Parts: sequence; structure tokens; C-alpha cells
Amino acid sequence: MNAQSAASVVSPTPVWNAANLGAPAHVCHRGVIEWVASIAALAQPERIVWCDGSDEEYRRLCDQMVAAGTLRPLNPEKRPGSYLAWSDPSDVARVEDRTFVCPARGEDAGPTNNWVDPREMRTTMRGLFQGAMRGRTLYVVPFSMGPLGSPIAHLGIELTDSPYVVVSMRTMTRMGRLVYDLLGELGAYVPCVHTVGAPLAPGVADVAWPCNPAKYIVHYPETREIWSFGSGYGGNALLGKKCFALRIASTMGRQDVAADGEGWLAEHMLILGVTSPEGRKYHIAAAFPSACGKTNFAMLIPPQGFEGWRVTTIGDDIAWIKPSPDGRLRAINPEAGYFGVAPGTNTRTNPNCMASLRENTIFTNVALTDDGDVWWEGMTDTPPDHLIDWQGRDWSPADGKAGRKAAHPNARFTVAATQNPAIDPAWDSVEGVAIDAFIFGGRRSSTVPLVTEARNWVEGVYMAATMGSETTAAAMGQQGVVRRDPFAMLPFCGYNMADYFRHWLELGGKLAARGSVLPRIYCVNWFRTDENGRFVWPGFGENMRVLRWIVERLEGRAEGGEHVFGISPRYRDLHWSGLVFPEEQFARITSIDLAAWREEFRLHGELFDSLAQRMPAELLAVKRDLEHKLAA
Ligand code: GTP
Ligand code: SPV
Ligand code: MN
Repeated sequence: MNAQSAASVVSPTPVWNAANLGAPAHVCHRGVIEWVASIAALAQPERIVWCDGSDEEYRRLCDQMVAAGTLRPLNPEKRPGSYLAWSDPSDVARVEDRTFVCPARGEDAGPTNNWVDPREMRTTMRGLFQGAMRGRTLYVVPFSMGPLGSPIAHLGIELTDSPYVVVSMRTMTRMGRLVYDLLGELGAYVPCVHTVGAPLAPGVADVAWPCNPAKYIVHYPETREIWSFGSGYGGNALLGKKCFALRIASTMGRQDVAADGEGWLAEHMLILGVTSPEGRKYHIAAAFPSACGKTNFAMLIPPQGFEGWRVTTIGDDIAWIKPSPDGRLRAINPEAGYFGVAPGTNTRTNPNCMASLRENTIFTNVALTDDGDVWWEGMTDTPPDHLIDWQGRDWSPADGKAGRKAAHPNARFTVAATQNPAIDPAWDSVEGVAIDAFIFGGRRSSTVPLVTEARNWVEGVYMAATMGSETTAAAMGQQGVVRRDPFAMLPFCGYNMADYFRHWLELGGKLAARGSVLPRIYCVNWFRTDENGRFVWPGFGENMRVLRWIVERLEGRAEGGEHVFGISPRYRDLHWSGLVFPEEQFARITSIDLAAWREEFRLHGELFDSLAQRMPAELLAVKRDLEHKLAA
């Protein structure tokens, strides 16, 4: 498809400067104007559009992308206001090996991040950006991460040449004109620059999904800047999400210790509210690695036998958490939408999610049905007889049997949070919600039991720090191998992971010293398998059984048994009404295999050794203590 309408306007590349940018009158921040001018002069776009976040703008950009072949409108009867995008097959997930964290000193990025000297990286990036937007439009996208005006929120501006990124940012963040009012003449913002890295020569037809085989996702934490080149997909390109809200924000939260003594946390966590039949409400933040069930858990519908219980969603991917004056940790969801995994989502596993996707959704890399709707693996038990797969090829169930997937495993939907029937009334509140417990979970087919409560904050931090998980399609690279993924933050921590552990330890220490009751910490695993590789635990809505145990522990009402690593429910400690789950099955997902755990501790040791330079002694002490208990 080639309708790059402007390609027919043969105009000499404009020389952009602060005077000819066409900035609207409400943009009165000199720094913003000068920064946009400098990027425009470098990248040499043909046009500049200052986005206002209006419905009209959203519709106009969608129409333009339909004409360009980037978006396909879905059947308005089946999926009103919705579109399907198919990306370039080389641009389908985050690129962890092309993601760089570049403080001045390599030790400050730490061994878990790719580091390049920022002076060298700036030279490389300026070279790549030189003329990179030729023939394209540079969009100026102002956004707030978090409710407008919240003391926990922060502002950003993304410059991008991708209209797909603009409409996605409109859904995923609070995007638009109001941001300039908050910014005023001198306000702070995180500058984010993005190009797909595919300049268009005059008269040359565009492709539906422009991108570049070379990709760079670059962070300068000390100056709080983001530069992204070559990809138009997800976390590589929607820079408010992983780049800002996790990598840059995690650094901000640690640097702000100097300012207020405590600092804050930016975490790869969902936030949910859970209300008991008696009307008592708790807030829980839970970290799971990418494509390991955050969206599902955040939208959980309690199963049979849990009448009167209710789960509501504050966020499904990222939490910003800050101590409030009363000593509680208060959390906001910095996002305004969900960029969630489609495969596996259906009316049984996640009915709230399916309801959210009924309309006004952009689907990326799912399959197209003959009646203009979408389909993905796991959406229905029986696939349709014919589909067009995510690469535009005919697909039949026989292809599926032969192992060819109709939707890419990391196919996703982009939808506004307000479409979730289970949205929490406080999801948009400026003060956030007070966190009562943290949950950490990974995808582990063996070894890690269903749920364990940490005995104290330090042991909880140890559990989170040593978490392992089998890798998923959310990132390019090998899938299904166990790797350490501390706090589900391995790809997202913007500084040295050992310093990050210390930040968690110190924050807990300071809050305890103030007399605060710290949130309790839990470790869960929904993913133990049997000898045929099938999940033993039914998961999804049934995870409510674990959530209820946690709530009743907080209330001092539930029992558990203490073992080496902490406290876990015995069979009799969980509520089983509405589910047939025999005790032998329960044993399979809660047993502790001593040999497997000795190996597990060896892997904890490998992680700690790699971080040895700055590893907090408290965690090394916990390791010695737990290993001692295991040996006894
Ligand atoms: P990101 O958006 O990548 O950060 O991931 P997420 O943690 O939000 O992932 P999501 O909830 O979309 O996870 C999707 C995958 O997890 C699908 O393959 C689901 O089938 C699977 N999943 C979610 N919850 C459960 C569960 O309770 N049990 C099992 N077995 N699988 C689950
Ligand atoms: C993840 O990979 O954890 C995501 C999707 O949430 S992306 O925004 O692409 O990073
Ligand atoms: Mn995520």
C-alpha cells in the first residue's frame, strides 16, 4: 500500500528552527520549543504536527493509516470503532539485546543492562537520526504518566514519526493539550524521541509498517532522556511505557531519595482492589514477568463458591508507588490503557478483558476472520475454517495443526482502561491507593510452590530478588528457558540491580522506623506442570482461592504451615467450595523438592555473584540462613 499522501508534495527539506515550527500559542515552554527544533533540524521531517489528543485527531490519524494500509478497519457490526494492524515480521516484540541504559559509568547500569558510554552512544544516535524522518511527519505528543496533576505523576513529550505510536499513546497515556498547562513555561518533562528509521525519498511509496533492521532503544538516566530508533512495536516505540514508566522512572525513584529521604518505586506490577463480602477492601500490587498473567490477575472474576467477593482493576502492567505522609505506600497506575497479550485470552480465562475489547480497540498481529473480525489462538476452542494470518496469508485449521500460528504469540490489543467493566472507582484518583500486600510470581513448571508468605520484609525482598521465570514471546529471543528475573524487572530496571535491591531494603527500613505497618510479601506460581506438561493448577479465576488466603492472612484469620522459605497454606487452609481439586493434586503444586531447591540456591548464588560489587549484605545473610534451614 502506498498512499503516503505527502510523498507527492515534492518540497525541499525544510530547515527547521525555533521560529518556523508552527508551535501553537498554548505551548509557552521555551525549552520544549528549542528541543523540538533541534530534533526536527536533525531528523528533517517534511511536516510537524502538534497533537492535541482530541477525538477528531484520533479519527483523522486512523483514517490516514487506513489509507496507508497500516490499519484495516474491522467489521463495524462485530467490532465497532476497531482496527487491525499487522507489523513487519521482524518487528513483533521488545528487543532486549538492543536496549541500552547509558549512565556515565557502566557500574551504575550494572551487569544486567547493556551499557555503552553515553558520549559514544549520543554520537551513534545522532548519526542514525540524521535525516531519519525525511518525507515523514514529526508528531509532537504531550502526555502525563499518571492522573493529571497527581503528586505521583510525571509528564513527558514523545516526538515520533509513527502515527500508530500517536494513536497508541492517546489510549495508553493521558495525552493532549492539558499537559502544556501543567508544564507551564518551565515545568519538567521527560523528552522521548522516536523514529521508525525509514526515511522516504520523494515519490517513493511507503510500506504499511515502516521500520529498520537496526534497532536501538536508548536511555540516558542521568539526564532522563529516551531515544528509540528502528522499531514501531510496543515497548520499543510507545516510550511512555517501559522506557519512561519503568527504566527512567525507576532511576527517578531512587535519585529522589536525596530529595525527600525516601524516594519511590516504579514497578512492573498490576494493582488490584479486592473486596470481601463484608465490604472490607484491600489493595494488592503484583509483579509477574511479561506474558505471565498480570492482565488476567488484575481483571479476575471470583469463581463459584466466592459469592460476594469482588476484584477491581487499578492497573495491569505498571505501578508507581510512593510513601505518603501517613507512612503507607500509595500506588497509581501511570497508564490509561492496556497493551495486553491476545493469545490465550477468552471468555473463560478473562471475561472482563473480552468485554473490554468489544469496541474501540486496535489489535496488532492477530488473525482476520472472513467476516472482518479478529481471532487468535485460544480465543475459541475450535478455530474458524478460514482466516488471514498475521502475515496476510491464508490460514486453515490444518495449518494450525502443522504448528503455524494464525496470530503471533506476542499479538496484542490496545484499549482504554475505561472499557474494563471491572475498573476500580479509584483507578484515576490523584492520591492513588494504599498497598496492603505485594505478590511476586514467575512461570515455573517445577520447584516453586503455589503460594508462600515471607516471614518479614527482608526475606520477601530476597524472594522477589531471586525470582526465576521461563521466558515468553514478549521479548525477541529464546522462549521457555528459566532465567532469573528479579522483581520481574530484569529488562526494565534503569540502574544497577544490586542498588535496586538496596533501595527496596532501605525503603522498608525507613518506613518501619517510622512505625508503619509494611505490606506483606508473597511469592506465587500458577504454572507447575504434570509429567505431560499440563498445568496442574486451574489458574485464572481460581487464583481467587490464593488471593482470599492472602486477604485472610492480612486479617489474621487464615492459618498456614511454616517451612524453609516462609508460610504456605496447607490443603485445609484454602477454601475449596466450587472446585474439585484433590489433595494429591494440591501436593503436586506445593511440594518442596530438596534437590531442586539446592540447585535453585546455586542459581540464586550465580545471580548474586554477578552483582557482587554492590550486593547488599542482608540478602547474602538471608541466603545463608535459608540454605542452613534447607540443610537441616
Ligand atoms: P505483559 O503485558 O507482557 O507485561 O504481560 P502480563 O503479565 O499482563 O501477561 P498476561 O496477563 O497477558 O498473560 C498472558 C499469558 O499468561 C497467557 O498465555 C495466559 O494464558 C497466561 N496466564 C495468565 N494467567 C494464568 C493462570 O492463572 N494460569 C495459567 N496457566 N496461565 C495463565
Ligand atoms: C511487556 O513486555 O512486559 C509488555 C509489553 O508489557 S511491551 O509494552 O511491548 O513491553
Ligand atoms: Mn509488561
